[in-house]
This record gives sequence, C-alpha cells and structure tokens, in this order.
Amino acid sequence: MAIEILATGRYLPERRVTNDELAKTVDTNDEWIRSHTGIGSRHIAAPEQATSDLAYAAALNALESFAPGKAAETALTLDLIVVATGTPDYYGFPSVACLVQDRLGAVNAGAFDVSAACTGFVYALDAAAGMLGIGNRKRALVIGADLLTKITNWEDRGTCVLFGDAAGAALVERTDAPVTGEAKRGLIQSVLRAQGSGAQELKCDRGGTRNPYKDGETVDKATHIYMNGRAVYTFAVKAFTEVMQELLDREGITMDQVKKIIPHQANERIVQAAAKRFGLPEDKFFMNIEKYANTSAATIPVALDEYARTGELQRGDLIMTVGFGGGLTYGGNLIVW
Ligand code: UT7
Repeated sequence: MAIEILATGRYLPERRVTNDELAKTVDTNDEWIRSHTGIGSRHIAAPEQATSDLAYAAALNALESFAPGKAAETALTLDLIVVATGTPDYYGFPSVACLVQDRLGAVNAGAFDVSAACTGFVYALDAAAGMLGIGNRKRALVIGADLLTKITNWEDRGTCVLFGDAAGAALVERTDAPVTGEAKRGLIQSVLRAQGSGAQELKCDRGGTRNPYKDGETVDKATHIYMNGRAVYTFAVKAFTEVMQELLDREGITMDQVKKIIPHQANERIVQAAAKRFGLPEDKFFMNIEKYANTSAATIPVALDEYARTGELQRGDLIMTVGFGGGLTYGGNLIVW
C-alpha cells in the first residue's frame, strides 16, 4: 500500500511587492534584502482575504489539475482535508480546514489543521498518510497555507522584508503500489522533529492564553511575529542538514539517487550552506524564494507544484522535502513520484 500524490496546486495573491517598493516605506533596500536573503519580491494578500481564501484557491487548483472541470465531483471523493497553517482565519476554531471543506463541498471529509509553522506541510503530509493507512479512507487533500503579512510588524525591518503570502495543495491517495523495491511509489519516509526549547526564538507573543489581550488595554498593533534571526538561522542550518542525512540513512541511499530537493525557503543562504555541507550543486534544490519570499507552510507545496509543472519530474523520480521553523520544528519527506 502506497500513499501517492495525484496532483498539486498553488495560489499566490495578485499583489506583488518588490524590494524597491517596500523600501519606500521601510528603512531597507534591494541590495541588503537580496544579499542577506535572496528575496526579490513577495505576494501580499488583499485586506479582505484570509488564509482559508488562499487555501481554498490552491485546493481548487489541485483538484482542477487532477480532473479539469470536475473539482466538485472530486471533492466528494475526499476523506480528509488537512491544512498546515500558523495563521488561521480564527483564533483556535473553526479550523481553516473546516472552512475549506465547506467551500469545496467536500461533505464526506474530516477536516483539521496542523500547527507546525514552516514545517507544517511536512508534518501534514505524514499525518494524512498515516490516517489514510487505517480504516477505509482513500483520499486526502493536504494544504499548506499562510498569510504572514497580516501578523508582520511592518516597523521591524529585520523581519518584515522576509515574508509573503501563499498556499499550496496536494491531492493524496492510498494506492496498491509497492513501497519497497524498484517499483516503489509515494511517501516512503518522513522525519519529524521538534526542539521546543527554542520556542521563544520565533513566536507570536500576544493574544494567546499565555499573554492575552486584557480588558481596557489599548492595542495599537495586531499580534505579530517576533524572531531572533541569528538563533533561528543557526538552528536552521543544523536542522536542515540533519534531516537530509537522516532521510538518506533511513532509506539506505545516497544523494545522487535524489532528483530534487524541495526545501523550505526562509533564506537562500541556509540552503546554500546545506548544499556546501553535502557538496551539492545549488540546482539540486528547487528555489523560488526570489519571487515569493518566505511563505511558511506554503513554501514547500508551492515549490512542489511549480516543480511538478516544469515537466522535469517523471514517474519514479525520488524527491526530498526539508522544512524548519517555529516551534521549533523541523523535518522532511522522501517521495517517489
Ligand atoms: O521560516 C522561519 C525560519 N526563519 C529563518 O530561518 C530566518 C533565519 N534568519 C535569517 O535568515 C537571518 O538571521 C536574517 C535574514 C533574519 C537576518 O540576517 P543577518 O545577516 O543575521 O542580519 P542581522 O540581523 O545580523 O543584521 C545585520 C545588519 C544590522 O545592522 P548593524 O547592527 O550591523 O548596523 C541590521 O540592523 O543589517 C541590518 N538590517 C537591515 N538593513 C537593511 C537588518 N534588517 C535589515 C533590512 N534592511 N531589512
């Protein structure tokens, strides 16, 4: 029994903001952002959009790419909708997954969110695979969606230049394909890790039960991201290479058997450091940070969809995902296409 990806999809909000445009309102410049991060622009959602709008659009794109004109029919075949997000429409509940389930008309699907920040899609894919492995569930829609620009502190140049909004989706199915040997297919390994001791290095401090807004308090800013950039950078480089090595070791393979690595993209330099550590050419990684910046849980599924649509990915190719982020969390998947 294999858990295979049948189709992928993505959504990027219409508005694209370049570094130069950002530099008109923030004390920064294109040269600093590019040289320190590799980011050239980001997409920013419209004020009326929430995360479920992005997630729904990516889901629809995946369903349409699977069976054009039959998204509503395909939605009826879903047993599960899992959304990885750190920026849900509502505090606590309802989940983004339930809002997407309703809009798709996926009346046979259970729906829930996964909170693992930028590693969310890696976790969600593995959660969905595990749940498809028991009972009579067959199909799941796994979505990574984040709208970070609504929780960005636009006065903090150390973080506000880093983020963008997006959603990516994968339609996943339990099939009879083998998971070992030459003909193996689908999700064959996942590494899921956490380092909760680093929780305070990347967080949204206000509004939760630890630090709620109080009656009568004047709130001049919505809850926003705080990040100790240096600490997270150091963690990320180590986590990234650890996950890559563990995936290889578990499967007993070498990196030359992996066709492409689909990384979380918070900073191009983190990927370059991992490439150097493994002696890999940079084009071993599918990169799009220049266009989209860090879109958290959406980064990996958006990149996966873009890569799949290049036509380069052939059935039987082995790909690797690697993620890291708030929690702190990290992990990766090995997938035979
Ligand atoms: O997906 C979640 C995981 N997140 C990450 O993995 C992010 C990890 N961290 C990073 O990618 C990097 O630490 C950053 C990109 C956030 C920062 O890069 P850095 O090379 O560590 O810069 P820094 O924070 O040490 O700042 C260096 C200088 C400072 O100036 P001084 O004190 O040396 O005069 C900053 O004030 O750069 C300045 N600076 C900026 N200058 C222009 C910081 N942000 C900016 C900016 N524009 N946007």
